Amino acid sequence: MTPQIDPDGRLRHLLTLDGLPRETLAGLLDRAQAIIDGVATRPLAGTAICTLFFDPSTRTRLSFQRAAQRLGADVLNFDASTSSTTKGETALDTLHTIEAMGVRGFVVRHSADGAVAELAAAVAPDTALVNAGDGSSAHPTQGLLDMLTLRQAKGADFSGLTVLIVGDIRHSRVARSDVQALRSLGTGTIRACGPAALLPDDATLHGCEVSHDFDAALEGADVVMMLRLQRERMAEGLVSSLDDYHRDYGLTAARLGRAAPDAVVMHPGPMNRGVEIDGDVADGPRSLVLRQVANGVAVRMAVLEALLA
Ligand code: CP
Repeated sequence: MTPQIDPDGRLRHLLTLDGLPRETLAGLLDRAQAIIDGVATRPLAGTAICTLFFDPSTRTRLSFQRAAQRLGADVLNFDASTSSTTKGETALDTLHTIEAMGVRGFVVRHSADGAVAELAAAVAPDTALVNAGDGSSAHPTQGLLDMLTLRQAKGADFSGLTVLIVGDIRHSRVARSDVQALRSLGTGTIRACGPAALLPDDATLHGCEVSHDFDAALEGADVVMMLRLQRERMAEGLVSSLDDYHRDYGLTAARLGRAAPDAVVMHPGPMNRGVEIDGDVADGPRSLVLRQVANGVAVRMAVLEALLA
């Protein structure tokens, strides 16, 4: 039982995919697919939702806004850079302030690991939180939308798939949520590849095939998930140069030829074109990047509906 599940088994918050029951995860994907297939719904009319982002975002924030609007909710957008956060107000005081205005749903992004779970522990019983990314810990709705995109491309049975995740896995909340979801859905083989300095030394990759050789890891892969190189890692000395990184871990069209003939390419965005992925691959016929973005709206509708409707 995780803190995000009520004693009666109902989803109370969505904080992580770690330990989320497989039937709950699959149910959210089924609901998102039904929304895409045309099941119209506006069950959140009169409900107020706030996107509470203490860290930058384009697609997560906007797709939650779009999702909430499509469900009929009223949406309040909090921008930390123009808020009383700049005067020293804490995240919890900020949340309680907005909660006092009658807001019942919060979509929260924060730079600190565990920050969203801490906030969730302090809200009223009828307030729900969604983790929109905390530190390098979790980005559960990105994990869900990636699984929905994979299901559409490869079918619901993942047992025969080889999925390769490449890049800065150590600092990636997306990679953690993706690995948890891939495991939960019974993926045949999960490979992880990146420079040693950018691979985690905890249990994140338990059960995965880990390698530093991108060309070898690509052999026969059905799905290639590229991760953003977080450029601050260069300043930390974890990456020697962008050119070196591209040479060793950049996905080019020629390299993609090593993967399975019908392999698909994913990237959570934002992309560093010419660093971890070349423009012709990102925009090419194997790329699912914009499908991932489109699926994000339906997945976030399914999550908000499950928590608040
Ligand atoms: N994938 C993702 O979380 O993108 P944003 O940072 O733009 O929300």
